[in-house]
Amino acid sequence: MRVLVVNGPNLNLQGSRQPEVYGTMTLGDIEAAVSRRAQELGVEVAFFQSNTEGAIVDFLQAEAPQVQGVIINPGALTHYGLSLRDALAALPVPVVEVHLSNIYAREEFRRQSVMAPVVRGQLSGLGWWGYVGALEYLASVVGKEGAR
Ligand code: DQA
Repeated sequence: MRVLVVNGPNLNLQGSRQPEVYGTMTLGDIEAAVSRRAQELGVEVAFFQSNTEGAIVDFLQAEAPQVQGVIINPGALTHYGLSLRDALAALPVPVVEVHLSNIYAREEFRRQSVMAPVVRGQLSGLGWWGYVGALEYLASVVGKEGAR
């Protein structure tokens, strides 16, 4: 089983960007934590980060045939990225949306996710653990049900 872990704009700055909101772990630290758990679960993971919506759409389209699940933190695209939403909706595999912060406890503009209606579910506000939780979910359901 192969899972993509995709991060959108500004998540490359993780660890130094507003650590009081997003925590102190770098994206590399988070990816290492996900990799460790993935190894234990016997899941292959591939990581991708881009500050560009089209690059994420291209990546998802190219990888779609080879994967059984997607974990994505779309960053600010969460709130307006309709081409990314359409790309997620087109995926024949379960997608879990992750946010480090609790987007429902923040500014008004963050309280809407245009991704939420097309994903399997969302983990918001659990910090870096959200990525690991999403992996746990995919590892436990995907083997049983295959594509959504
Ligand atoms: C975020 C929340 C978004 O509102 C924000 O634009 C981000 C990160 C999060 O992980 O909490 O870049 O997706």
